[in-house]
This record gives sequence, structure tokens and C-alpha cells, in this order.
Amino acid sequence: LTQKLLARTTPELEAIGAKVVESYKTGGLIFLQGELGAGKTTLVRGALQSLGITKPVKSPTYTIVETYNIANLTIQHFDLYRISNMEELELIGFRDYLTGYSLIFIEWPEIVQNFLPKANCKIKIDYHPEGREIIIYA
Ligand SMILES: Nc1ncnc2c1ncn2[C@@H]1O[C@H](COP(=O)(O)OP(=O)(O)OP(=O)(O)O)[C@@H](O)[C@H]1O
Ligand SMILES: [Mg+2]
Repeated sequence: LTQKLLARTTPELEAIGAKVVESYKTGGLIFLQGELGAGKTTLVRGALQSLGITKPVKSPTYTIVETYNIANLTIQHFDLYRISNMEELELIGFRDYLTGYSLIFIEWPEIVQNFLPKANCKIKIDYHPEGREIIIYA
């Protein structure tokens, strides 16, 4: 199932994140692709806020991963931009994050794509003259 959407504003992009995550409230693996500044973190922020996360959703650019907890769900938000190979990912215990029932968002999955499990949902964000174009492969 492929869906193409246009987000003219940041709040519209956040709303798309909220909509997408409705299907993954019990867990899932979600990949986000798109250039620097395309809006991957913005979409995740919308998703997490819609789930009731009240702490600020920061970009995991420097920390590689940010973790959030709500009722029955552990949520991990990865940004692999600074990772250059699978060994580096293993060092931060990446495998452990993939076990159990978690909702996992991964920005820049293409960097270690061949080592990752198949995603439940892939989201691609592109610059568009009127904002951002979002393509969702579920
Ligand atoms: N539809 C839109 N129109 C204009 N600006 C937008 C739109 N959606 C998001 N933005 C802005 O674009 C920026 C996107 O930044 P964001 O950190 O989400 O990108 P990113 O894809 O996660 O980048 P990185 O690869 O560096 O992590 C934000 O400043 C946001 O406000
Ligand atoms: Mg980001």
C-alpha cells in the first residue's frame, strides 16, 4: 500500500506522523528517508506527541538514539547519520533494541540497510515547491 501526501507546513507534517503511527500503537519498525532537513524528525515528533509523549522530542543526531516510554510501549528513535558501519551500531547495543515489543523509528536506515530487519513502514520525504511530499510504503 503506497500513499502520497503533501505537507504544506510543519504542523501538517506532524499531523501526518500522528496519522501514520495510529497503525503502530502496539509496535513496529518505521524507516524515514529524505535529505538533511527534509522533515524526518518533524514527522516523528508529531507521531510521539500524538501518543502522549510530553517530553521534548529532540533530534538524535548526536546521541544516535532517544528513548521514550509510555504505558505499554518503549519507543526508540534512531538517527544513523553519523554511523558508518554495522560494527559501530553493534557497539551501542543496537541488536538489543530490536528485541521485544517496541516502536522503533530509524532516520537514515540506508546506511546499514542490509543489516536491518524489514520495516513495517517506510516513509520518504522530499522537498516540494509547496512544502514536503511524503510517500508512505506500508
Ligand atoms: N511542509 C513544510 N514546509 C516548510 N518547512 C517545513 C515543512 N515541514 C517541515 N519543515 C521544516 O523543515 C525542517 C525539518 O527538519 P527536521 O529536523 O525534521 O529534518 P530531518 O529530515 O530530520 O533532518 P536530519 O536528516 O538533519 O535529521 C524543520 O525546520 C521544519 O520546521
Ligand atoms: Mg532528523
